[in-house]
Amino acid sequence: MPKFVLDHDEVVSIQKLLAGIAAKYRSAEDPEFLLEANLLAHELPRRLRAALNEFRLTEPDEAMLVISGFPVDDVKIGLTPEHWKLSPEQRVPTLEEEILFVLTGSLLGECIGWATQQDGRIVHDVMPVKGMEQEQIGIGSEQTIWWHTEDAFHPLAGDYNRPDVLRNPDHVPTTFAPVADLGPLRRGPSTSS
Ligand SMILES: [Fe+2]
Repeated sequence: MPKFVLDHDEVVSIQKLLAGIAAKYRSAEDPEFLLEANLLAHELPRRLRAALNEFRLTEPDEAMLVISGFPVDDVKIGLTPEHWKLSPEQRVPTLEEEILFVLTGSLLGECIGWATQQDGRIVHDVMPVKGMEQEQIGIGSEQTIWWHTEDAFHPLAGDYNRPDVLRNPDHVPTTFAPVADLGPLRRGPSTSS
């Protein structure tokens, strides 16, 4: 599994960058921030930018890149919300993490959302929602969510899916399979999480 691990100096540099951006924007979806996101992303550590650039240009068969080493303050991010429908004020505890999400995504392409998903938000929340435990979508929690293709409902699905893990107390695994060796792609029924 291709893995990029941030070192201490890189983490410190990223934290400083995020603090500066978070002081200026109230949301990672602020249109002014999104207009600047790609430029700001070039202030990320060079080694991280190089890894994402290589991933984008070489499209390795593994079709995935795990970036790790960025600490998440479990207390600072607060309780897992009960629903994704939150105001920018309610999202403040994860603002810096969401900014990093958009910055790294901006080095791969343009970050997009769907009008029909989570009110068109670009950064989606994936968490258990009460009453939806048995659903085969990201808000389900008591079933294994089976194989699916992200955004299969649309012919212009994104080129990348960018899950960002803030909390996983039960160490629930995510399984990913590149389809490069499976022959011609065929879009089937799917859910998105
Ligand atoms: Fe998914």
